[in-house]
Amino acid sequence: MKFLELLNRIGLIAAHRGARSIAPENTLTALKKSVGKCDFIEIDVQLSRDGAAVVMHDDTLERTTNVSEMDLFKERSPYKVSDFTLDELRMLDYGSWFYKDKNHKEPLLTLGLALEFIREKGLFMNVEIKDMNGTFSDERVVESVVKEIVSADVDERILLSSFRHEYLRMFKEKLPNVPTAVLVEDKHPQNLIEYLRELRADAYHVNDESVDEKTVKKLREEGYFVGVYTVNDANRAKELFNMGVNSIFSDSLNRELGMSGL
Ligand code: G3P
Ligand code: MG
Repeated sequence: MKFLELLNRIGLIAAHRGARSIAPENTLTALKKSVGKCDFIEIDVQLSRDGAAVVMHDDTLERTTNVSEMDLFKERSPYKVSDFTLDELRMLDYGSWFYKDKNHKEPLLTLGLALEFIREKGLFMNVEIKDMNGTFSDERVVESVVKEIVSADVDERILLSSFRHEYLRMFKEKLPNVPTAVLVEDKHPQNLIEYLRELRADAYHVNDESVDEKTVKKLREEGYFVGVYTVNDANRAKELFNMGVNSIFSDSLNRELGMSGL
């Protein structure tokens, strides 16, 4: 099955940043722990100073690594991910903040490794590309991500999304078979359907606070996949699926939330 076929289903659960309620978000352990508990996995991707695609949500390292405890990096506050090279990022620990145990470490997850993992296991993944406008050119971001997708040979297994919609237009030109999702928070673009059509997008991902039945209905009638983040409550999940929402992004990964039967 391809991700494109998954887009026709409803009642899907996406593991938001991996199984982030039981493992440190966006690590390989979080990916492994989400297997069997979701229909696809969502990760966040950004670039290191030297242009390597790495899996991390925040644009600074403080919350999810031990960077502030390392003497080597004590002059590097505010610890922007894009100020650190891949080699430097590899020196950090991505687990002890979560386990609250200095000895329980997790290594950096790169996009390359995440994609290799889903190919080996036959899984599906939503790769969210963080908005790096102002730090890297759109071309540089898109090139780095495309290179990893091509080299891992996973174009049928992924959905690309971003709050920076310009990336999506460029992805479609370079990888026309890979579905894309326009990601928004709190505000819908004007003339939504035309907007999605113009970007050649396949899906629309919106935060729970801004979703409404009329918009979902319209999107579904026009053939768009609708994803809603972040939903951890079973009653709310049911409500959204009854509206026609295709997928929720969830931290809690309770199988009861979903209805896909996958
Ligand atoms: O892609 C859906 C969701 O992950 C967007 O929000 O901030 O958790 O990446 P965020
Ligand atoms: Mg995300």
